[in-house]
Parts: sequence; structure tokens; C-alpha cells
Amino acid sequence: MLEVAFFDAKSYDRRSFESATNADQVGWRFHEFRLSQETAVLAQGANAVCVFVNDKLDRACLTTLAGFGIRLVALRCAGFNNVDLVAAEELGVSVVRVPAYSPHAVAEHAVGLLLTLNRKIHRAYNRVREHNFALNGLVGFDIAGKTIGIIGTGKIGKITAQIFRGFAANVVAYDPFPSLDWAKENQIHYGSLVELLAKSDVISLHVPLTAETRHMFSEDAFRQMKRGVFIVNTSRGKLIQTKALIDALKSGQVGGVALDVYEEEEGIFFEDHSEEILQDEILSRLLTFPNVLITSHQAFLTEEALREISRVTIENLLNFATQSPFLPGTIVHQ
Ligand code: NAI
Repeated sequence: MLEVAFFDAKSYDRRSFESATNADQVGWRFHEFRLSQETAVLAQGANAVCVFVNDKLDRACLTTLAGFGIRLVALRCAGFNNVDLVAAEELGVSVVRVPAYSPHAVAEHAVGLLLTLNRKIHRAYNRVREHNFALNGLVGFDIAGKTIGIIGTGKIGKITAQIFRGFAANVVAYDPFPSLDWAKENQIHYGSLVELLAKSDVISLHVPLTAETRHMFSEDAFRQMKRGVFIVNTSRGKLIQTKALIDALKSGQVGGVALDVYEEEEGIFFEDHSEEILQDEILSRLLTFPNVLITSHQAFLTEEALREISRVTIENLLNFATQSPFLPGTIVHQ
């Protein structure tokens, strides 16, 4: 039987993986902590590791895994920026992922965040529970007629754009590889990044984290945006330079921010720190703004997405065990 060391395991992961079809063909070794150079030793004796977004598979970690004869890293997520693919290839370790599980889950969360932030539903909820039925300070804006900028029109960006079209918003999109037929069908206008930044009332990020996209929102980008712009980031925290974002919030250049991801989320998000003093000064500052809404990387978290993640990950693992068809270091699209 295929032995799999499963890192950063949460109760919902265990539930969906253990109840998946074919789950009995895999021997699961669930670990609640993340995989890193320090914890890689716990993978000894396994045939593969199964990891998530904040496990750290740098060269040192991968070298340890390869030393144990582990030839497969199965990511149970789409992004793979936490894996040193060059090192994986050199070490003969294959990397597989779940390229799409539910783009709807992430797109719907992005829109939900914007609605909550704009209409101040999170504040209204708390007020009403305290029998404060006053409306002062709860004024929002209509999304209909506004210009929504979608950066990255892959699977998630496209669905987000379509949802906003359903709100009767104008959508301007930017992607180096535009989908022109789709844009025509949905009356979406592709423009340059400069145009998008200048025109948008709301900007939603849907690009992967790469060397090129890292800090794509920094001081310079914020300066080019409309004053009072709302920003939604459900992609990767490092797309935004958080210190520059704080300055832009303080000056009013940015009118509201909804984040499902944060630059330094590793070690903070996904965990309960409610009994501790938060040591991250930047996150602490962000949390003081009334116009900042943060969720803890939960955009993917729907029953449908979890089912698909476990189904595809197990398929990836079993394919590897039966055929070993993958080239080392290759991201395989299942
Ligand atoms: P995708 O690969 O389908 O689409 C990404 C798009 O970004 C592509 O069309 C690509 O051409 C475009 N792109 C690349 N570089 C760009 C640039 N510099 N400027 C503008 N566009 C650029 O990816 P998908 O599935 O839509 O996911 C997008 C991102 O969402 C992922 O990379 C991941 O970081 C994030 N994500 C977040 C989740 C969460 O729970 N918060 C869950 C799943 C994904």
C-alpha cells in the first residue's frame, strides 16, 4: 500500500480524504504540523508527501525527502510557489497538484468579501447582536455601474468577472494572455494594467505569485489607482507590499481592502492564536483599520472544493504508484 505522510492536516482535510473513494488504497500518516526542513524527518518510510500552501519545500527539505527515497510531492492545492521546482527536478522528485478544484469557491468568496466590506455587513452583524439598530457609518455603494478591474483572467478571474457582470458592473480585465472570445461573450473589456489601475473602482487580484507578480501592488501601483479604490486579494499575499498598502489606507488613497491572503501569513493563518499576543506588527496594524476585512485563506473552503481536492490528489497518488509516469520536477495537470 502507498504510504503518504500528510502534513498540515486539519480536521476537514482528514474528513474529506478518509471518506474519499479509493482512500482505502492509501496508508495515511496525518501530521498536524507543516512540512519544512525541520519536520521532513517525519516523512521517513513514506512513499510520498501530501502538502498544502504553507508547507515549505525548499531545497533543504526536498533533499531530506529525496534522501528517504521519496519521489513524489502531492500538493493538495493549485499554487506551487512554496516548492523549489528546480531543486525537485535535480533531486528526481516529481510534483503534482490540483490545478482546479472549485474556481467558483474562490470567486464567490472574493465577491462575498467585497459585499461584506462595502455594505459593512460584518459591522452591522455585531451592532444588531448588541441591540444597536442605528445605521450611522454603514453607508456603502452600489456595485451596479461601477468599474471592476480583474487582474488575471484564468479560471477564478473569469468567474469573478462574470459574477460582477451579473451585478451590472462594467468589467475591465488585464492578462498577458487575454481570452478574447470569452471577453466578447461577456462584454468584458481588456485593457493595459495602467488603464485598469486608473479606471477601476474595485480591483480584484487573480494572478499566481511569480517573480514578476510579487509586489505588483506597491507604492507606485497604489499611486496610479483611483482615490478611494477598493482592493480584493484572494490570490497570494505577496502580490501586495503590505507596508505600502498601510500607507495608502492611511492617506485614503485606498478606500477599503478585503484580504483572504497576507504577505506573511505562514505560521499565522490556519491556526488558532487567540490565546497569544500577535507578534506581527504589520498584520496588527492592518487589523486596526475599520475598512480592512481579513479572512484566513478560506476562499477555497467549500464542501465541493474539498471533495474535488481529495479526489484528484488521491488519483494523482495512485497514478504515480501504479505507473510512475511523471517526469521529475514536473507539474502534472490532471
Ligand atoms: P489560472 O492559472 O487559471 O489563472 C491565472 C491567470 O493569471 C492566467 O490567465 C495568467 O495568464 C494570468 N497572469 C499571469 N501573470 C500575470 C500578470 N503578471 N498579470 C496579469 N495576469 C497574469 O489560476 P486560477 O486557478 O485562476 O488561480 C489564480 C490564483 O488564485 C492562484 O494562483 C492562487 O494563487 C489563488 N488561489 C487562492 C485560493 C484561496 O483559497 N485563497 C485557492 C485557489 C487559488
